[in-house]
Amino acid sequence: MPRIRVKKSGPLKGSIKIDGAKNAVLPIIAATLLANGKCVLNSVPNLRDVHVISDLLRYLGAEIEYKDNVLTVDTSNINTYEAPYELVKKMRASFLVMGPLLARFNHTKISMPGGCAIGTRPIDLHLKGFKALGATIEMDHGFVEARTDSLKGNKLYLDFPSVGATQNIMMASVLAEGVTTIENAAEEPEIVDLANFLNEMGASVRGAGTNTIKIKGVKELHGAEHTIIPDRVEAATYMVAAAMTKGDVVLENVIIDHLKPVIAKLREADVTVEEGENSIRVIGPEAIKPIDVKTLPHPGFPTDAQAQFMAMLTVADGTGVVIETVFENRFMHVTEFNRMGANIKIDGRSAVVNGVKELVGADVTATDLRAGAALILCGLIAEGTTNVGEIYHIQRGYVDIDKKFRALGGDVSIVED
Ligand code: UD1
Repeated sequence: MPRIRVKKSGPLKGSIKIDGAKNAVLPIIAATLLANGKCVLNSVPNLRDVHVISDLLRYLGAEIEYKDNVLTVDTSNINTYEAPYELVKKMRASFLVMGPLLARFNHTKISMPGGCAIGTRPIDLHLKGFKALGATIEMDHGFVEARTDSLKGNKLYLDFPSVGATQNIMMASVLAEGVTTIENAAEEPEIVDLANFLNEMGASVRGAGTNTIKIKGVKELHGAEHTIIPDRVEAATYMVAAAMTKGDVVLENVIIDHLKPVIAKLREADVTVEEGENSIRVIGPEAIKPIDVKTLPHPGFPTDAQAQFMAMLTVADGTGVVIETVFENRFMHVTEFNRMGANIKIDGRSAVVNGVKELVGADVTATDLRAGAALILCGLIAEGTTNVGEIYHIQRGYVDIDKKFRALGGDVSIVED
């Protein structure tokens, strides 16, 4: 099994380019199912999750080509509305094909997504949306089946601004009759990117990026070309790396606006952040000032950057508190951090992080995607060598993470046992 070996490295220095956003491209690939024709997506990151959803679309009958970060999808010949367990179990985001398939066929049957290390992650809000649009839902033998004579626009309220539910309901409603209003919708930049793509295909989606989204149904959608937004979580990860190693790093291809909560919290920790047009420079301080972090739906602090910030706080000059409000079980990395000499105590959804002078290298395990990246961050400043196992989690969401760190002077490599 491959591992990522990280040795203590000096301050990271130099510049790297941020790839297209994983969490934006996955729903957008699912949305191509709505078009009767060919879609061209630019700036598509070469990630495991992208290949997983591409395989699912191929199974459904799509023709897909991927070269030089351009993904071409032709969904003219989609011939089934059923997504099997073997393909859905690999990635929870596969469930995002449900909305588009329901819109296209008025009928779909998808294997229920499995549990996940960071929480139970139910699908009740997705289904609440489909029901509001007039679908009947049945659950049987691990599958969820939705069918209708025709979808009709409606007004619905999400109990929590779920990113996936907002996306699935948006995609189900673009071809519905009449107007759909989603209240308490998620406001993440990835929602806006999906809305832009749907509109480029001929849909009428207004209000994405606010908590009320209105979708006026249209008769049909056509193929479109779209460029995926940069990955704000990948950017946040390298920003923290620069801060922790007292480095000086420039990240190209970022949208500053998407990074607001991350920038604000880094500045609070005494990190220097210089905002460019499409780039950002991060200079680490002599000592990280302890800060408190509370994860919230956008525009609050992103849960996907929680583990990385906690990694930074392990060596802060004092005590910080991290509160996780989005997922109920997203502190799996704490045990691994503590194995590296961190001093963190958990009480429910809060973690008290007492800064220590230094971390020490150890054999650790990536428990999920962002936790895995955070362990690499710890390894960069830990005495000796850190070996991170289960790196497939990390490869789901970071393009060439070893090469990008090496380009900045970090001693990070993938090694076979
Ligand atoms: C997406 C992101 C993930 C990110 C998360 C929150 C993708 C592919 N993944 O995941 O990286 O961490 O947003 O920003 O974009 N919930 C319900 N019922 C539902 C749906 C969700 O109770 O039907 C709950 C979840 O259990 C969780 C919370 O809502 O506690 C947030 O989940 P959600 O926003 O749906 O996250 P995802 O779309 O799965």
